[in-house]
Amino acid sequence: MAPSEAVDELVFFVNGKKVVEKDVDPETTLLTYLRRKLGLCGTKLGCGEGGCGACTVMISKYDPFQKKILHHTANACLFPVCALHHVAVTTVEGIGNTKSRLHPAQERIAKSHGSQCGFCTPGIVMSMYTLLRNNPEPKMEDIEDAFQGNLCRCTGYRPILEGYRTFAKDMNCCGRVANGTGCCRSGRENSTNGGCCGGKANGPGCCMNGKEDSVTMLSSSLFNSSEFQPLDPTQEPIFPPELMTQRNKQQKQMCFKGERVMWIQPTSLKELVALKSQYPNAKLVVGNTEVGIEMRLKNFLYPVIIAPAWIPEMNAVQHTETGVTIGAACTLRSVEEVMRKAVAELPPYKTEVFQAVLEQLRWFAGPQIRNVAALGGNIMTASPISDLNPVLMASGSKLTLVSKEGKRTITMDEKFFTGYRKTVVKPEEILLSVEIPYSKKGEYFSAFKQASRREDDIAIVTCGMRVLFQDGTSRVEEIKLSYGGMAPTTVLALKTCKELTGRDWNEKLLQDACRLLAGEMDLSPSAPGGMVDFRRTLTLSFFFKFYLTVLQKLSKNLNGTKNLCEPIPSNYISATELFHRDPIANAQLFQEVPRGQAVEDMVGRPLMHVSAAKQASGEAVYCDDIPHYEKELYLTLVTSTKAHAKILSVDASEAQSVPGFVCFVSAKDVPGSNITGIANDETVFAEDVVTCVGHIIGAVLADTQEHSRRAAKAVKIKYEELKPIVTIQEAIEKQSFFKSIKRINKGDVKKGFEESDHILEGEMYLGGQEHFYLETHCTLAVPKGEDGEMELFVSTQNPMKTQEFTANALGVPSNRVVVRVKRMGGGFGGKETRSTILTTVVAVAAFKTGRAVRCMLDRDEDMLISGGRHPFLGRYKVGFMKNGKVKSLEVSYYCNGGNSVDLSHGVMDRALLHLDNSYNIPNVSSMGTICKTNLPSNTAFRGFGGPQGMIIAECWMSDLARKCNLPPEEVRKLNLYNEGDLTHFNQKLEGFTLRRCWDECLSSSSYHARKKLIKEFNKQNRWKKRGMCIIPTKFGISFTVPFLNQVFQEKDASVFHRGRSAAYQVFTFVLQVASRSLGIPTSKIYISETSTNTVPNTSPTAASVSADINGMAVHNACQTILKRLEPIKQSNPKGSWEDWIVAAYQSCISLSATGFYRIPDIGYDFEKNEGKPFSYFSYGVACSEVEIDCLTGDHKNIRTDIVMDVGTSLNPAIDIGQIEGAFVQGLGLFTMEELRYSPEGNLYTRGPGMYKIPAFGDIPTEFYVSLLRDCPNSKAVYSSKAVGEPPLFLSASVFYAIKDAIYAARKDSGLTEPFRLDSPATPERIRNACVDIFTKMCPSAEPGTFKPWSVRV
Ligand SMILES: Cc1cc2nc3c(=O)[nH]c(=O)nc-3n(C[C@H](O)[C@H](O)[C@H](O)COP(=O)(O)OP(=O)(O)OC[C@H]3O[C@@H](n4cnc5c(N)ncnc54)[C@H](O)[C@@H]3O)c2cc1C
Ligand code: FES
Ligand code: FES
Repeated sequence: MAPSEAVDELVFFVNGKKVVEKDVDPETTLLTYLRRKLGLCGTKLGCGEGGCGACTVMISKYDPFQKKILHHTANACLFPVCALHHVAVTTVEGIGNTKSRLHPAQERIAKSHGSQCGFCTPGIVMSMYTLLRNNPEPKMEDIEDAFQGNLCRCTGYRPILEGYRTFAKDMNCCGRVANGTGCCRSGRENSTNGGCCGGKANGPGCCMNGKEDSVTMLSSSLFNSSEFQPLDPTQEPIFPPELMTQRNKQQKQMCFKGERVMWIQPTSLKELVALKSQYPNAKLVVGNTEVGIEMRLKNFLYPVIIAPAWIPEMNAVQHTETGVTIGAACTLRSVEEVMRKAVAELPPYKTEVFQAVLEQLRWFAGPQIRNVAALGGNIMTASPISDLNPVLMASGSKLTLVSKEGKRTITMDEKFFTGYRKTVVKPEEILLSVEIPYSKKGEYFSAFKQASRREDDIAIVTCGMRVLFQDGTSRVEEIKLSYGGMAPTTVLALKTCKELTGRDWNEKLLQDACRLLAGEMDLSPSAPGGMVDFRRTLTLSFFFKFYLTVLQKLSKNLNGTKNLCEPIPSNYISATELFHRDPIANAQLFQEVPRGQAVEDMVGRPLMHVSAAKQASGEAVYCDDIPHYEKELYLTLVTSTKAHAKILSVDASEAQSVPGFVCFVSAKDVPGSNITGIANDETVFAEDVVTCVGHIIGAVLADTQEHSRRAAKAVKIKYEELKPIVTIQEAIEKQSFFKSIKRINKGDVKKGFEESDHILEGEMYLGGQEHFYLETHCTLAVPKGEDGEMELFVSTQNPMKTQEFTANALGVPSNRVVVRVKRMGGGFGGKETRSTILTTVVAVAAFKTGRAVRCMLDRDEDMLISGGRHPFLGRYKVGFMKNGKVKSLEVSYYCNGGNSVDLSHGVMDRALLHLDNSYNIPNVSSMGTICKTNLPSNTAFRGFGGPQGMIIAECWMSDLARKCNLPPEEVRKLNLYNEGDLTHFNQKLEGFTLRRCWDECLSSSSYHARKKLIKEFNKQNRWKKRGMCIIPTKFGISFTVPFLNQVFQEKDASVFHRGRSAAYQVFTFVLQVASRSLGIPTSKIYISETSTNTVPNTSPTAASVSADINGMAVHNACQTILKRLEPIKQSNPKGSWEDWIVAAYQSCISLSATGFYRIPDIGYDFEKNEGKPFSYFSYGVACSEVEIDCLTGDHKNIRTDIVMDVGTSLNPAIDIGQIEGAFVQGLGLFTMEELRYSPEGNLYTRGPGMYKIPAFGDIPTEFYVSLLRDCPNSKAVYSSKAVGEPPLFLSASVFYAIKDAIYAARKDSGLTEPFRLDSPATPERIRNACVDIFTKMCPSAEPGTFKPWSVRV
């Protein structure tokens, strides 16, 4: 029972307003409370697991221990509302708004084009705001660190950093320290880079010149920072004085009881100990970053939670004789502060362990997590991949435990962890404090971690390593090697350590240590987590790094006494260097509008995205922000847990007992047709058979989201399992294909091979990709009560199909269904067709109950059910001459379509149409096959098959250059198309600007000079290698599904259009087009939402053509209006726009017009290989340089230069934003993002915890983008070109730069032949490809002799 006198009234402040809450449920998070109870919807839900930062808020509290006010960020999605007592919360709404004044953190992100879909923006704003509250003059490094826990899927991060760089006091326009090394203003004559644009500072072509010729002027400024309001820290809201006085008063124990969970917050250790003895199974929650995840994602229930945050002893820090004792409730942020201070103040030999703790904390989660998560939480979770436990174990840290029985202190050693997530700590015991020891003289300590992504990622393998030498010698007295990620617990390599004790620190010790570790740190080939060879190799690589680091220190420390150890070879030194980030630098170059262009004519100017300010202030309304309807219900899907099975029974009886349960909906509730999908091969609800994990079987409706979630989990389904087909390989073996294998053939392939000097055959696999739009699928269905009318608010790229499919499921004519889309938090193709699988279910539920029904998928559900980019397998045979000229190509493409056709045919068509990338291949034979498997249907994704088609082309291209022993850039250039050439699908290339892009990119990137430097670097470094690659792209513009190439527009005082996708961009483009077409300023135009009752039959916003077709249609509508206005204008030529409008009304002239546009002359016949599949092509070239760590597989993107032809840019800020955003998305595709499935077809990677998209720290350190000048496009509105998709593929330059670097590493091992590298080039693939002595000590198990944990689908 809860203590009877405990306080049950929670008092806190939100945006300066006091909240007193008596009735709180401990299961409620701050995010739910803000959004549902306070209606503050600016704080977004992106993942619910602390992994995206969309929910970032600022928490301020008075710390009675430190006697000061602390401000820090936190993830509202994990923050328990019960932990808010005497705390002030600031959300994005609390710092500024468009009605009064934006805060500079809001204004600058908006004006610097750092907000595209805007869903991530409030979280990023709050991270910046909190940093400024703590430090109004941050360094650029502080700004970068502040964003470690925020993700954005649209912008590519550069504009955000650039806008916020204006707060940094140490930065110049190019991102370098003003006039320091590399600064664009410093005019370094001898440098290879010179100015920020790549040209020599202020030399010809340098962006700083504002180079002018007779007509054009180049500009590098997308915003004008002089317009920004200054930051005035004195204007920030004050911390509520009431909370200061309250926190100084004696606290009383608090207790809150919810439906299932009780929360008790004691105030003294005595109370805490008594409570833990009363509730031994209670969880002690400080940060809730572990418990919150267990309850939300793993369905664990902890009926009693005890919060020890107020216990003084658990928050204390004490320096003792032997080390620093830190209270177990201290947050990781405070541990970091303590360690940093100690390192600064104490002699370095004493702080070896502290430095290792700091190195681990540097890459531990993001700041939002580190600010709240406790040291004790990390230890007691006992996760095998904890970052701190290996350090604490290797250092022999001491843990003090307390219970009713008293205190005891134990050492964290090999006996501490007793099993997976288990320790020797008894249930009634509490971890009170941790003593981290000082190191001694002659003692050395290192920690290493390798993860899929550097920032905010859990470890694949992590370790802490300690060695103590006998005084003044290099003989090992004690050694401890502790690893995480190699067993169900953190482990010590006891056997190895025993063998190494007493040995000298030399080459022989190294060899023996590696041999011993390879044996001791073994893993079963089926081990959970997979990556077995990689993990085993990492244990040796880390030891090697430790060995070298210690050797280096030893030789320095022992120098002068006796020369006791071998010097470390100079080309090995870089292996010991820890990752460091260089200051970012970037430049964007574009052509300014011609002189004399009217000021109000916005075409060609970097106009800010129309909604950016609202997005930055949290006012922008997304689907789930729409206020609740009366008696609204929440829906949760019930989906299959089997990939292929017969449904034997569905039992929802247990769900009925969950409070708030309303009903269960399934196939029998569908009033119309249960058959749905683009090819009518899907069901709204599965009936007899399920064909993938995540197949929708039913849905539960309840009064709240929490209740519907719980009820859905209680629905029991029985299956009879059938054998699934999961991978492309299995589909090929079983010939499981969707019909209609496509081919494109040209010339005589056989003859081409006969005439070739060499023939190369190979295979490449490219994994799929999750869209990871920050806003998951969301629908709100509102039945209108009459004639089956239904209003749907949907986050979709495709209102037309949504309307059609819903009407079909409801059995009503389409005109009864209205679909409304205000904005989307990202789509990228994922909301082109797959949004309908949720919408139809929600609509059926609303129809059945007659009540409004809402559902926003949780991130894990979204990733599970909605499919993504198609994985591809390419098999090729290429014939070529000695000089690298390609003669003949035979390719077969296989893609994993999943369980329904959806858009797979279009995707495969585009892959085949892009199999040439940009190269002229005289003889081609190609075939595309779509595999039918038991995975959720794959679908459209930016690039729509194009990137898959092209990456395989670049694979054989890079291999053949190696085979010919020729520089890859020469072979690529030799094979590039020329103006007027015919492609393999017989389309003539006109206005072919690719060679211009190529030459400009080669020159602006100083390609040849840097190549020499790279060669030199690689000679001097054995374990770090650099690589560089320049890659072209040619991307066909139009839908490859012909009927989609049209659009119907309406135009009047407001503009309704059908563009949504990256809808944010299209809105702005349309505004600019309408402004020029009508000759009025943009301020006179308003763009409304898209809905099917204002614009019928809308093609999806996709395939990059949205600006083209919408722009043209709007232009056409404007022309109609102008024609009608003509007589009025003539009769009053000096009148204003308003005068003419009034006169038109009085003369009964309609000013409402529709515009229609269809892309002319396109249509292609695969059978005959004739016709034009594309309206025109977009071109671009990128050159990227990377550095890999051959020992760990880590890589860093050093520099990328892009030259892109976007025609005459309608809006350079948007075009450059699209280029950078697409590039970074491609970077994820080709180097990072890996969907992992079990052999049974179960997706493991269901959230940002396991699926890593690029973060702020992953973008190239130097990132230069220039738009090709003077290249108008006659095929699109105002000579522009589509830009949404084409640049994505340019990130393949990073992939092939990595491959180039791996070649250099392999060369040092005597390997020079082409080798296979599949995509993405993850640390695992990079490390495994860098074959060396360590990889050879960890050989792979024979395939077929074991069941792997995951399979390549
Ligand atoms: C997005 C994200 C990223 C993360 N990244 C990392 C990472 O990079 N590296 C890493 O190692 N971990 C990571 N974690 C895991 C987690 O953040 C850490 O383990 C954290 O330190 C847990 O602390 P907490 O206070 O939030 O724990 P809580 O969730 O509050 O508690 C965790 C467990 O510890 C027990 N416990 C807490 N304090 C005590 C005590 N004093 N005595 C006895 N039992 C106690 C609780 O009962 C509970 O079982 C991440 C988590 C998230 C959500
Ligand atoms: S929603 Fe909280 S971090 Fe993603
Ligand atoms: S703008 Fe960042 S996710 Fe869309």
